[in-house]
Amino acid sequence: MHSESNITDENIVWHHHAVDKDLRAKLKKQKPVVLWFTGLSGAGKSTIAGELEKHLAHHGYHTYLLDGDNVRHGLCRDLGFSEQDRRENIRRIGELAKLMADAGLIVLTAFISPHRAERQLVRDLLPEGEFLEVFVNTSLEVCEQRDPKGLYKKARAGEIPDFTGIDSEYEAPHSPEIDLPAGEKSIQELAEQCLSELHRREIIQL
Ligand code: ADX
Repeated sequence: MHSESNITDENIVWHHHAVDKDLRAKLKKQKPVVLWFTGLSGAGKSTIAGELEKHLAHHGYHTYLLDGDNVRHGLCRDLGFSEQDRRENIRRIGELAKLMADAGLIVLTAFISPHRAERQLVRDLLPEGEFLEVFVNTSLEVCEQRDPKGLYKKARAGEIPDFTGIDSEYEAPHSPEIDLPAGEKSIQELAEQCLSELHRREIIQL
């Protein structure tokens, strides 16, 4: 029997395996990267990430899209929307995205991830240049007008507490690698903007 106090980092040793990140990436003929989409609910994160993923797959790249609403049905089903739970949500997704990049994948994540500090924590988990912050820059006004899931209406009616943009803060990135004017351009144009930025950074070849 181990008492809880025995389970500390100091008793857990990292095991280095022969098949490593470099080899896995080489076999896939690609450079791993995490494309971290952030923005308000209804901004277009999942839709743009999904469109970009289609293009990447079409060009033969191995990808995985982690989507907020989907992950909250499984891995994060125990979490709500308090500040603390959102922090834990992003911490878990950050670790998961890191593992997936370690598997050699191009990872796309679509979470509101409202706090700069948590996004920075995820950035710090990854090697330089492997975390690209994609700001889905859609105004609250436009998101609320779209209201694809009817959640803004409910939030305004006081039926959803701590709703991002209404009574819970969203901190926009100061210097995202990719800034998408998602209220003004088509999904296709926005996905292409991401593609050309990946190309410019020599992460993909087109
Ligand atoms: S995050 O803040 O922890 O990053 P996440 O992206 O996982 O959020 O989930 C956001 C989705 O959950 C929204 O798109 C919306 O559909 C739903 N949702 C339910 N309650 C809330 C809330 N209080 N604030 C924001 N989104 C909510």
